[in-house]
Amino acid sequence: MTPEIRKAADLLRAGGLVAFPTETVYGLGADAANAKAVARLYAVKGRPADHPVIVHFASAEQAFAWAREVPEAARQLAARFWPGPLTLILKRSKLAQDFVTGGQDTVGLRVPSHPIAHEMLSIFGSGVAAPSANRFGLVSPTTPAHVREDLGDEVDLVLEGGPSEIGIESTIVDLSGAGAVLLRPGGISREDVEKIVRLRDREEASPRHSGSLERHYAPRTPARLVPTHALDKVISSTANRIAVLAFSRPDERVDYWLRMPRDPAAYAQRLYAALRELDSAGCEAILVEAPPQAAEWAAVLDRLRRACT
Ligand code: TXA
Ligand code: MG
Repeated sequence: MTPEIRKAADLLRAGGLVAFPTETVYGLGADAANAKAVARLYAVKGRPADHPVIVHFASAEQAFAWAREVPEAARQLAARFWPGPLTLILKRSKLAQDFVTGGQDTVGLRVPSHPIAHEMLSIFGSGVAAPSANRFGLVSPTTPAHVREDLGDEVDLVLEGGPSEIGIESTIVDLSGAGAVLLRPGGISREDVEKIVRLRDREEASPRHSGSLERHYAPRTPARLVPTHALDKVISSTANRIAVLAFSRPDERVDYWLRMPRDPAAYAQRLYAALRELDSAGCEAILVEAPPQAAEWAAVLDRLRRACT
């Protein structure tokens, strides 16, 4: 066990804030049973108090203690995908207090697979509330440097764990009502979830997770999704300094060009670092070449739609 991880667990116990790597994105953690620590977490993130936060654990057994009902589908999904990039929404037990659930009767639970996260959670021994370690509404961090750029000295410790392997947030499945609902596509595909449980369509009436807000995961520079066939035309007709995220080769008329992989998993892994890079390129607009409308691109398309106007 490294001393850094032990220190992280001690800080959490003392009510501190620790940024830590997960396989999806970096999280900003606080003791999920400590109202003051969670309040500070929300303040640092700039997050409204009625937004629920995901609680992270070292094992499914610990996680399920925070739910008062664990449906069979939850056990099956956990057996298949935990530890890993899946968050389950279940009816909360008394352990999940209002300050982590945003006052809702449900709680978001996740068992991450990143070895450093896992070790920290094992030593800590209980739930760690952790949103992505960025300021509210902006692009999630996938490296320790991103965390420091966003949150600087306001975090007590940043645990280093290299770039996040998946690069976009966990898949969220809501099992708190009748049937299973996909709230957020992510590291695990809808198709993989459906091998275990049938998903219902999402009711538009429950926008209580921040991922469902219109503009989220967004760079500060206005970004626009452009279909491949229109890219050339849009570039020629734009007078401003532009930055482009595309599959194809750089166009010399463009000020800043980042080429992305055609494989959806590799694209997701690089997406947030790429958006941050384009955002700081000093351009007036970002153009994003739209990936194919295909199932394997669903999670990336979801994030791109939110990042673009
Ligand atoms: O991959 C991830 O999930 C990362 C890493 C750090 O684990 N975390 C993350 O947290 O993305 P955050 O707070 O940025 O997004 C969590 C999402 C939000 O959209 C939140 O509203 C939703 O989960 N959520 C949490 N608890 C919920 C609940 N009880 N009901 C509905 N949505 C919930
Ligand atoms: Mg977030």
